[in-house]
Amino acid sequence: MSTFDSDSNGQGLQTRLIHTPPADASGFNALPAPIMRGSTTFFENTAAQRKPVDQLGLDYSYGLHGNPTQYTLAGKLAQIEQAKHCLLVPSGLAAITLVGSALLKTGDHWCLPANAYGPAHSLARLWQSQYGISFDVYDPMDAADLERRLRPETRLVWTETPGSLTFEVPDMKALTAVARARNIPVCVDNTWSSGLHFKPFDHGVDISIQALTKYQGGHADVIMGSVCSNNTALFAKVENINRLWGLGVSPDDCALVLRSLITLPLRHREQAAVAMRIAQWVSSQPEVDRLLHPAFASCPGHNNWKRDFTGSASLFAFTLKAPLADADAVRFVDTLKVFHIGYSWGGPESLALAFDMPANRRQHIGGSTLIRLAIGLEDEADLMADLQRAFAAIRVGAA
Ligand SMILES: Cc1ncc(COP(=O)(O)O)c(C=O)c1O
Repeated sequence: MSTFDSDSNGQGLQTRLIHTPPADASGFNALPAPIMRGSTTFFENTAAQRKPVDQLGLDYSYGLHGNPTQYTLAGKLAQIEQAKHCLLVPSGLAAITLVGSALLKTGDHWCLPANAYGPAHSLARLWQSQYGISFDVYDPMDAADLERRLRPETRLVWTETPGSLTFEVPDMKALTAVARARNIPVCVDNTWSSGLHFKPFDHGVDISIQALTKYQGGHADVIMGSVCSNNTALFAKVENINRLWGLGVSPDDCALVLRSLITLPLRHREQAAVAMRIAQWVSSQPEVDRLLHPAFASCPGHNNWKRDFTGSASLFAFTLKAPLADADAVRFVDTLKVFHIGYSWGGPESLALAFDMPANRRQHIGGSTLIRLAIGLEDEADLMADLQRAFAAIRVGAA
């Protein structure tokens, strides 16, 4: 259409430029969710504006609280995780902080696994010193250890499966049973599976958080997080504090994630399959001590993965055999050309990082240094050739 009613109706141009409504969208029937921007949203009258807001329903009272693009994305994520409720936050870390701040107050106590995403531990330390919220770190592979650390004032059990960096897969049913026996809510960081291969609410979990920055964003160009739950009372607490923190996500970013979600299962499947083949080959290299990939028997908790997961992801790690040490891991990573050095994972580019083995995992895993690989979408042969060069660079006797 290129025919318009340009009658001024007695109004000035400036007024008309502001108040002319968008083109009629009826009859435009396309798949992509429209990007709906807007800070102020109009009420029909004052009675509508004064009506109490249903925070768990569609809330179009103000752009910060929700818009159709956000709800479309949240609804699809809820489908993936089989959740009743889902909200979006500006990062995976914000999801962690939000859940903690909704469920914990001064005098409370919480438990985190030894292999939790690092900033969760930093947050626990900060809250302990700043707000008097104490915490304990438990061995994720020992439900009895978690049980011993629970206190009458414990109000949250944090879990992650598999754990960050060392990839142990905990017995989630055992951990949640311990917490449930005392009515303590359990939150899982379910980022590794993207919700595709691990269904948290079938395993006694109350709240699941994810960093959508990884596979859901999928193209390394957006940062976002989600909180999903089937427990309405707990979710209402999270939703309430979310509003008071003033957290919101941009509809443009939501549209990026919505576009990527279409290919999420395909990308995830392809990246995981290539990662499996690469991991298998890596494990056969003489310099490698231990492959830490949940789908392999060498990974602690492999049997839990077999029982609870329906697939794997493209992020894994391995340790080097002594006397190879941190300097060798650094040389390995710095030799890579197709893999880049950088944080995050789940995007199209493959990434490598050398980590000092976390002190609290050293006795469980062995080794002093750890290399983490995130497999992207490059040609497999190029990734293999790159890794071959890196192994050659640390081979004993290499110049
Ligand atoms: C397991 C896990 N959870 C949460 C996060 C935080 O996500 P974001 O980078 O979106 O804050 C990360 C980031 O690397 C992660 O690996």
